[in-house]
Amino acid sequence: MDFSDSTDNGASGDVPAPYGNGPYGPGDPASEITSRPAGRIRTHHLQQAKWNGQRFAMLTAYEQYIAEIFDQAGIEVLLVGDSASNNVFGNETSLPVTVDELLPLCRAVARSATRALVVADLPFGSYEVSAKQAVSTGVRFLKEGFAHAVKIEVSGFYAETVRAMVEAGIPVMAHIGFTPQSEHALGGYRVQGRGDDAQRLIEDAIALAEAGAFCVLMEMVPAETASAVDAAVSVPTIGIGAGNGTTGQVLVWPDMAGLRGGTMAKFVKQYADIRTTLSDAAKAYGDEVRSGQFPGPEHTFQ
Ligand code: KIV
Repeated sequence: MDFSDSTDNGASGDVPAPYGNGPYGPGDPASEITSRPAGRIRTHHLQQAKWNGQRFAMLTAYEQYIAEIFDQAGIEVLLVGDSASNNVFGNETSLPVTVDELLPLCRAVARSATRALVVADLPFGSYEVSAKQAVSTGVRFLKEGFAHAVKIEVSGFYAETVRAMVEAGIPVMAHIGFTPQSEHALGGYRVQGRGDDAQRLIEDAIALAEAGAFCVLMEMVPAETASAVDAAVSVPTIGIGAGNGTTGQVLVWPDMAGLRGGTMAKFVKQYADIRTTLSDAAKAYGDEVRSGQFPGPEHTFQ
């Protein structure tokens, strides 16, 4: 099925094309999304993208105008990431952010995006205790946050949790590889799935996909391992620092747009420098206020 057919309900009897032989290569005409759904992108569109050898893009978004801009720019998936912790709330890591802090951001993004699939991250501590806890937090994000799906950072150990959530009607994206919420357990920001560890990642992805995850996201994984995971599961994959062999890619927006200062991870490409643009604008405004140039007559009521 074409990625452009948003009217398909996913029950049309589509048979997945064979996957696993790297259908996303550059120069493969099918690897570009040439037409887009007119309505809301749904999880089955991402599945169809994989079947058709098409790629899609995901960006984080935490607020109204950013969501609106990315949505109108054609970004297929918006992630209300727990990276809001260190990109909105001023924390050093993603660990402290809470459900009650993320829910209003999620609502703002979901209200502002008319086309993108909106995925909400479940914060650290809000789903690990039991499948029951995961279902009840997932329900809150769909019901109170207006998200269309949730993401959780997991291993194959959480397959039953994923199954329970999916049974409850919560589409689940499974985040494997480097999982920032476990940075203390993993000993810091380290590439996962190297050498013998690649097999563990593949098995985790298979278990999570079989449990019903609609997508597997991999962070900081060698390209070869990520491609092997993509080949091993029928669901679409998304990479961040995982090479070019996944169905989709994701970046954290303040990194990709150059809002955040400081050192960037190797996998970040900066497409803009809005930190400088905003700083220049603020300096110009401050200068004009101090010199009396602003407000001029054109900004003044008579
Ligand atoms: O919260 C986030 O921004 C993420 C991305 C790193 C995928 O989980």
